[in-house]
Amino acid sequence: MGKHFIHISDYNSNEIWEILYLAKELKTKFHKKENYKPFQDRSLAMIFAKPSARTRVSFETGFEWMGGHALFLGPNDIGIGKREAIKDISRLFSRYNDVIMARLFDHKHIVELAEYSDVPVINGLTDYNHPCQIICDIMTIWEQKGNLDDLKICYMGDGNNIVHSWLQLASRLPMEFVCCGPEGFEPDMETVKMVENSGLSSFELSHNPISAVKGADVIYTDVWASMGQKEEAAQREKVFAPYQVNKSLMNNTGKDTLFMHCLPAERGREVTDEVMESKNSIVFDQAENRMHAQNAIMVYLSNNLS
Ligand code: CP
Ligand code: NVA
Repeated sequence: MGKHFIHISDYNSNEIWEILYLAKELKTKFHKKENYKPFQDRSLAMIFAKPSARTRVSFETGFEWMGGHALFLGPNDIGIGKREAIKDISRLFSRYNDVIMARLFDHKHIVELAEYSDVPVINGLTDYNHPCQIICDIMTIWEQKGNLDDLKICYMGDGNNIVHSWLQLASRLPMEFVCCGPEGFEPDMETVKMVENSGLSSFELSHNPISAVKGADVIYTDVWASMGQKEEAAQREKVFAPYQVNKSLMNNTGKDTLFMHCLPAERGREVTDEVMESKNSIVFDQAENRMHAQNAIMVYLSNNLS
């Protein structure tokens, strides 16, 4: 999977740091409006089987800033896996495009897309993980704190795709990671084992929000019902309610704790409006960094083509 970006754990810590330093450099270039065109005459195919605001706009804007052309293919355009086999789309797009980014439901499908592609494939979220998001998240924390030493992250809510990418990062960079949510909504245990087997980070599964957030540098949350689960939203709201990130929970850490959310947020459910708008909320710095982190991933992959 070396030439693709499917899981953070496909990369070692040096490679992850290389991407982070590159992201920082590209952010400065972008803000200075420097002329930086490594993707001149290149194209990026963006395949979306699910909706998106940040991923679509940040990939498209970033790739075009770097001199390339990005094509948006929405859920009704190519019918990946329905109208046409994934492996056929993969080989076809490899002939037209220089990079493929895809947001799909089934994780096996992004793996298959990568397996048959001659050009780098980037995972823009599956039901299982969301690696671009978590590279951007750790970049944002690094920026805010100046280092990643003695980091405690407390994730509050559903053990979903966001958590799986956090766990894969924790198997590569040291941290204390607590996942706190209702029973029955834990993350995938095979992915938890990756952290335990790495011997690098500590992982705690908690059902108690009050004790889970103690000493946390960051409280992170995400929607209680992900894309593809929205019909379960009302049912989930009942069990997830005690895990809402509100002012009282933020005040319970014993620290000046940052608030993060991958967005889109459902204000009044997993997070209150008050916390989203508070001075400790860094959600828009975080969202901005999606573009810089992804630009770095694309440059890194094109520099390291085997
Ligand atoms: N965080 C994120 O991936 O946002 P979108 O679903 O809007 O792309
Ligand atoms: N867990 C959310 C993340 C959105 C960026 C979802 O999959 O819908």
